Amino acid sequence: MSGAGGTGAPDQYGLVGHPVAHSWSPFIHGMFARATAQNLSYRLFDVAERDFRRETLELFAGGIRGLNVTLPHKQAAAELVNELTPRAARAQAVNTIAFFDDSTLLGENTDGIGLVVDLERNLGVEIADRRVLILGAGGAARGVLGPLLEREPRAMVIANRTAARAAELAAEFADLAQVIGLSFGDLPATPFDLVINATSASLKGEMPPIDPGVIGEHSVCYDMAYGRSPTPFTRWARERGAARVFKGWGMLVEQAAESFLLWRGIRPDTRPVLDALSREDSNG
Ligand code: ATR
Repeated sequence: MSGAGGTGAPDQYGLVGHPVAHSWSPFIHGMFARATAQNLSYRLFDVAERDFRRETLELFAGGIRGLNVTLPHKQAAAELVNELTPRAARAQAVNTIAFFDDSTLLGENTDGIGLVVDLERNLGVEIADRRVLILGAGGAARGVLGPLLEREPRAMVIANRTAARAAELAAEFADLAQVIGLSFGDLPATPFDLVINATSASLKGEMPPIDPGVIGEHSVCYDMAYGRSPTPFTRWARERGAARVFKGWGMLVEQAAESFLLWRGIRPDTRPVLDALSREDSNG
């Protein structure tokens, strides 16, 4: 780790995705680097789907030491690397790549651990022995399912617009726990303790068609999407009387801290970054 506290050229890191222009990751990793005295730079790389493999390999050949990977490349990244951590292998999706001196490209997925740390440590939300509903069965849901199941919830239901994708994802994790996959329309109208929106509907300003009966007065609702304003899901959850409603800022920061740990061997304190980002939020 040549950049640790050094004054030479910074070690280079970044984020590959499409689009990436509005990403908070350079801000977050910049704060982490200053707080831990790590000499590193973090840049954004907007890469189209068809160019992902070639351009990512070029970045590593050009000296980049680690990359975060976001939409739409997380599954392609799992195919690109030469080694997967157990979590990434389980998810078949990668959000962090580390390039080691022996030329190994290691793929990790820190999304799920980031979500679990945010829920449990930052927000005081229990997962163990709770009834959990995940909306969505794409890459985002895939990334968080394993770490959520490790906490041993009492029930885990995946509901998706396309029922077959929910059933497939549930089957992939059936060796860990009983997981039920169904369509939005087949959701029972009984309250869940924790409802996590892992669809990309919020990004399009849309709300999945969910029976309001899944929200009770004790329900906690978490949108993995984040932004300054309320999302359609957080607005809907508040209107239905959920006990607590959150956007995904904390998951964003905690997954970044886990990536930083893999790259630099230090897990930065996330509290100052969480505080800085909460000042950006309109509290929706
Ligand atoms: P990601 O990596 O963000 O999960 P993805 O693999 O394209 O991206 O998956 C997007 C998820 O959001 C899917 O669960 C998708 O439902 P389908 O599997 O039926 O496509 C869901 N989704 C996207 N737009 C939605 C909308 N407007 N309403 C409900 N679900 C939506």
